[in-house]
Amino acid sequence: MSEPALVALRGASFAYEDGPAVLSGLDFEIREGRALALLGRNGSGKTTLMRLLSGGLRPHEGRLTVDGQPVTYDRKGLTRLRTTVQLVVQDPDDQLFAASVEQDVSFGPLNLGLDDTEVRARVAEALAALDITALADRPTHLLSYGQRKRTAIAGAIAMRPRVLILDEPTAGLDPDGQERLLTTLDGLREAGTTVVMATHDVDLALRWADDAALLTPSGVRTGPAPTALARTDLLREAGLRLPWGAAAAELLRAQGLLTGTEPGPRTPTELAALATGRPGTPGG
Ligand SMILES: Nc1ncnc2c1ncn2[C@@H]1O[C@H](COP(=O)(O)OP(=O)(O)O)[C@@H](O)[C@H]1O
Ligand SMILES: [Mg+2]
Repeated sequence: MSEPALVALRGASFAYEDGPAVLSGLDFEIREGRALALLGRNGSGKTTLMRLLSGGLRPHEGRLTVDGQPVTYDRKGLTRLRTTVQLVVQDPDDQLFAASVEQDVSFGPLNLGLDDTEVRARVAEALAALDITALADRPTHLLSYGQRKRTAIAGAIAMRPRVLILDEPTAGLDPDGQERLLTTLDGLREAGTTVVMATHDVDLALRWADDAALLTPSGVRTGPAPTALARTDLLREAGLRLPWGAAAAELLRAQGLLTGTEPGPRTPTELAALATGRPGTPGG
């Protein structure tokens, strides 16, 4: 028997007040150590699903489990969930509220009742992981959008969650900010955090994720990213297009530049390497 998923929803249904069902009978799993991209068009329910996974919303039917154990929505159960799963919402201005970066990042650990030494250690570690140590005393309202985003992520990391869920983390970032974010996420993954992101960016998902979960009207379809993101039928059902890397892989196979089992290119550098027969550098 395989290990239970780190976090799972089973048969989950949810509707907002007076609204139609956003999700119904949904099964969804987060597996430890697998970078997971949750993909779907605008309004498909990505944000709703992430809020169900992090305990901000409670499913009307079905249940949420951590390590196979049902989550209870009392104080103790929610504290356990919050030290397991942390959600970084799309707009940092919905998450930040304290006067300074350090105060904001220390809020979660203080709320857990940790002592000062432990709180300080966690805040220092989170600021370093996000490369914002120099901004510790900066008022949050004087930060750039990218800096606010990093501060919001640091606040989640300071809780030392096993799963970090990011809702559209690259939205609003310039290409350099996006690269920095992906480097940061690589570092978190190496340190053992399971990272999940919601996005409608199929190219980003193909490049970054181990697994891709496509939110379609008939449910979630999950598979290894290179396979799931080459399925034009599933992509169409989800209202998404083929990633350029998958389109390039198809052409490269037809031209004999890629064998059946070789993975396709995920970055322009990998594409160039395939075309010239040189090994690619990941992430380039
Ligand atoms: N707070 C809310 N109240 C009522 N309806 C909502 C609320 N948030 C989202 N919805 C609706 O739920 C559906 C799914 O939205 P959402 O989960 O935000 O999708 P996504 O993140 O994929 O864009 C949409 O139809 C949206 O209009
Ligand atoms: Mg959303």
